[in-house]
Parts: sequence; structure tokens; C-alpha cells
Amino acid sequence: MNMDQRILEELRNKLNIVDVISSYISLSKKGRNYFGLCPFHDDHSPSLSVSPEKQIYKCFVCGESGNVFDFVKNYEHISFMEAVSLLAQGIGFELGYEIRKKKEDNQYNKYYEIMDIANKYFQNNLLSKEGLQARKYLENRQLDKETINTFEIGLSLKKMDGLTNLLISKGHSLEELNLIDISNKNKDTYINRIIFPLHNRDGKVVGFSGRIYDNTNLNKYQNTKETPLFKKRENLFNYHRAKEEIRKSKSIIVMEGFMAVIRAHTIGVLNCVATMGTALSNEQASFIKKLSNNVYLCYDGDNAGFKATLSSGEVFMKMGCNVLVIPLSNGLDPDDYILKYGENSFKELITNALPFSEYKIRSLKKEYNLNNIEDKTNYVNSVLLEVAKIEDEIKKEIILKNLAKDTNVWYNTLEKKLFELQNKKSDSKNEEIVVKKNPKDGYLKAMESLVYYALNYPHAITLIDNSNVYIPNEMIRLLVNEIIAYYNRFGKISEADFYTHINQKDEPKLIEMLKKILSQDYPNNIDDGQVNECLVAIKNYNIALEIKRLEKEIKEENNLEQQIKLMDEMLLLKSKEGKSW
Ligand code: CTP
Ligand code: MN
Repeated sequence: MNMDQRILEELRNKLNIVDVISSYISLSKKGRNYFGLCPFHDDHSPSLSVSPEKQIYKCFVCGESGNVFDFVKNYEHISFMEAVSLLAQGIGFELGYEIRKKKEDNQYNKYYEIMDIANKYFQNNLLSKEGLQARKYLENRQLDKETINTFEIGLSLKKMDGLTNLLISKGHSLEELNLIDISNKNKDTYINRIIFPLHNRDGKVVGFSGRIYDNTNLNKYQNTKETPLFKKRENLFNYHRAKEEIRKSKSIIVMEGFMAVIRAHTIGVLNCVATMGTALSNEQASFIKKLSNNVYLCYDGDNAGFKATLSSGEVFMKMGCNVLVIPLSNGLDPDDYILKYGENSFKELITNALPFSEYKIRSLKKEYNLNNIEDKTNYVNSVLLEVAKIEDEIKKEIILKNLAKDTNVWYNTLEKKLFELQNKKSDSKNEEIVVKKNPKDGYLKAMESLVYYALNYPHAITLIDNSNVYIPNEMIRLLVNEIIAYYNRFGKISEADFYTHINQKDEPKLIEMLKKILSQDYPNNIDDGQVNECLVAIKNYNIALEIKRLEKEIKEENNLEQQIKLMDEMLLLKSKEGKSW
């Protein structure tokens, strides 16, 4: 911690979160707080609440929360420091030397510099004499100069160490170049490939993908391996270029390949990203959902693409997205399709995209042999499961009628079965609530509450610190430790200022956890009793775990004396269980 926190606190105090958020979305006052449509998910009734007292916002539907800096950061899709600068500029606040220096000292800056040099080097190669064949290749694929420029397409040379030597002559070490996979030992990583730079969400080049272009029988694509800059699970091709358009169009199209995204761009479809292959990581899925709740899947029209549509669709449905499918077939990918059938035909496909459940129902038919009774029964049941998820009653009826016709099953039977399924579904919803009340989850709620209490009731910090309780969840443990350290240093703490502090740590998981915790509801008046209750719950959980471990050890122990010793230990623990201290 340094001066920054104090300067940022000063700036934050000069800003009123209600005014800032009002400049983006409309808010209206209800009781002590202000409410508006949440811009971070597809909101239909105002679920974003802004607290002028606490100077924080939270959405009780999607869980997005934070202080004034977080809001601007998330709304504008810029970095935390960029949001700080923007807000400071707006009110003529001098941020001063400390913050600028911190920005320059960013440990990754030298790596980004290397990436930029490499990117320019590749782009130059493509324009050079040696780039002739590659240029021809791109021309054959109907990629014009403008597209090549936009996507910063380049070329790595046949020469094995051109880039490595260039970077070393500029004072970079081989060790650094190897670390970010620009070089491999003392040679260039990419040899004789068309190069597509890969950017992170802030638009910085963090890796490359190289494609063969002269009929060598090497792997078609070679991508940067995992490095401190390039994290495959977090990478989405074209994210930084598309995010504005996604916001404007309120929809995002997910593709698997970057040629698909590039081709779509050439016909003015600018809201596409690619996962680079059919696999979708949880990280990618959550970045996609954050950009837009309306997710269009446009995978290749082959078997892998079909499977990926079903599995990714399921993932996005579970996340509460509105999922639509742009179906391609005959092995065509979006690039092939657009070249073959033209711009308008593809745009029509987008307009006529199928809601996911309808897509699923259609595709189920292909998987079953309707001449076989067993298969037919399974087919009917699977379709009904999907129909149960559809909200539109008319749509349901149409699908049921078609199903009755296709299978010769009586419409009334289908309707009855559907009715049963829907009732079962609402039963299982009730079950979920019961599960949440399970005492096993009590300790989780207790850990989360501790974080909230510590930020809103300073005496909780002393209680937690003195209790020496071990917090089993690593992220929450880190947060609590940060809170204690912060409080010891500054002598005060608040939710709003702690958001600032955690944001500067650049640890996304910690921020996520903080948001998750603070977006929940907690009692208004906190006292020592509530804090102690949480501490006891966590302590009991730890004891229960330890007892379990001992039980296992006792079972596995062959030495009787040793066994007795362990049992004594266990009995002692059991006597402590459930008691406060
Ligand atoms: N991919 C990869 N490594 C491979 C093959 C594919 O990383 N060996 C990734 C690439 O990001 C690629 C995507 O998976 O864009 C989809 O693969 P594919 O459909 O084979 O490539 P296209 O994008 O269609 O590229 P092209 O048209 O040049 O074949
Ligand atoms: Mn292709």
C-alpha cells in the first residue's frame, strides 16, 4: 500500500457515485437508495441499486457491484486506472506523480513493448519482398489490404532468428523472450507462418497465432503457449475490437475460428468474437456474458461445431443468457458460408437465428431412430424436457403439435406429460432452496458475512483478528487478511475504499469474490454477537473437518497404541464442537 490509496480516496470523496452513474443510466430514488436498469446484464426491471451513503452500487440480479471507479471501468470496458484517470480528468483533479509512476512501473510493460515490436516486425515482413507469396495467399483468400491492416496480419520469415536478434539488439534478454514465447531457446518461435496477433481484453498484444500458407504439412495453426501474458482460457479473439459494437447491438456472436470473425468483419458484422477452437472455458463464458446477455452461437457446420453448439449453449443457458443459434451445415464455417452465399444470406441467418431450445429440439430428431419404439420414447421425453424450458405458450403448443404429428403420440398425452415435467421442475426449485439452507453451507455464509461485517463494523476486525480463526476458503482468507492489514494501516475502512484497494492488486479472482460477497444482503445493524456467531460456525466447521480426518486415520492405523492416541485427540475435539469460546 502506498500514497495511491489516499489520493484515490480523496478523488473518490470528491465524486458522487449517484451523479456519475446518472450520467450513464437513468436512476430514480426509492427510499434511501437509487435504482436503475443494470447495464451489466439484460435487465428488464430496475435491479441496480446505488447507495449514496456507502457510495457503492450493486445489482441484486447479476451480482455486479463496486464503487464509482468500478462502475466506469465496467461500463466503459477500460482498466481500473483508466477509469480513475477519466473520472479525475472530468473534475480537474490532479492525480499526481505517484499514480502515473505506478502505471509506468507495471511489471508487464516491458513484455507488452516486446510484443508490440514483434507485431510491427511481422507486419513489415508481410509488406517486404519476402512477403510476396504470403500476400498472394491472403489475396486468394479474399482478404484485402484494409482487413489485413485492421487485424494487423503479418508474416514470420523463413529465417530462424530474425526477430530474436532484433529484440536482443534492442537490449531484451533471451530469458524474457523465452518467457513470453517470442523465442524458443535462441530461435524465433514462429517460422514461416502468416501471423495473427492475439490481444487481451484491453487491446494489448499478448500472443500470436501463426498459420501455414505454403502447403507444408505442419500443424495448421501454431499458437503462443501459456505465458504470463497469454492465458488461453481467458483469450477471446477480437474482444477489444468488438466490445463497443456488442454494447451497441446488445448482442454477441461467438464463433470458433478467427477467419470466421475476420470474414464477418468484412461484411460489417462487427460484434463477433472467437474462442479459437470449439472448447469454451468458464472464463471465456463469463467474459462473454458480461459483454452481453444475448449470445448467438455460430460454430462451424461440421460435427465438432454441432457438438460445441449443444455444449456451449447449455453453459450459457445455465448462466441465464438468452441463447440463439446461427446454424451452418454441410461442413461450412462462417467464412466459407459468406464467400459462397454472400453477405445478405449470412445476415438473414443471423436475423432468423433459432432460440437454443428450438435448435436443440431440431437436432434431437437427428440423434434418434424414430422407427424404434425405445428410441422414439427417449426422443419424445428429451423434446418435452426442452419444451418445458420455453416460456412462450404458443410456441410450446406448436412444437407439441409437430411432435404429435412426427411421432404419432396423442397430443393430450404429450400435454399431460409436459405438465408433469413442469411441476417436477418447480418442485426441484424448492429443493434447491432447502439445500441452500443445509448447515454445511452455513460456514460459507459465515465466512462471507465476516468480510461484510469487517468492512461495515470495524470492531469486527478486532474480533476476527483476536480469534485467530482459520478461514478455510483461500480467497476469503486473503480478503480478510487484506482487510485487517488495510485497517491497521489506515485506521479506517469502508466498502467503497476497499474496492479501490483490491482493484489495484490486479487479482481478478479476489475482485470477483469481493463482488460476490458484497452483492448479497446482510442485516442492517451489526453487533459483536453476529460476528462471534460467524466465527463459531467457521471454527466448528474446521473441527468437523479435523474429526473426519482423524476418523480416517484411526481406521487406517494398525498400531493399537497409536490408535488410542488418535481417539483421545478426536474425543477432545468432539468436546469442543459446537461451543463458543
Ligand atoms: N485452431 C488452432 N490450432 C489448430 C487448428 C485450429 O488453434 N491446429 C483454432 C484456430 O484459432 C482456428 C480455430 O481453431 O481459427 C478453428 O479452426 P479451423 O476451423 O480449422 O480454422 P479456420 O479459422 O477456419 O482457419 P482456415 O480457414 O484458415 O482454415
Ligand atoms: Mn476456415
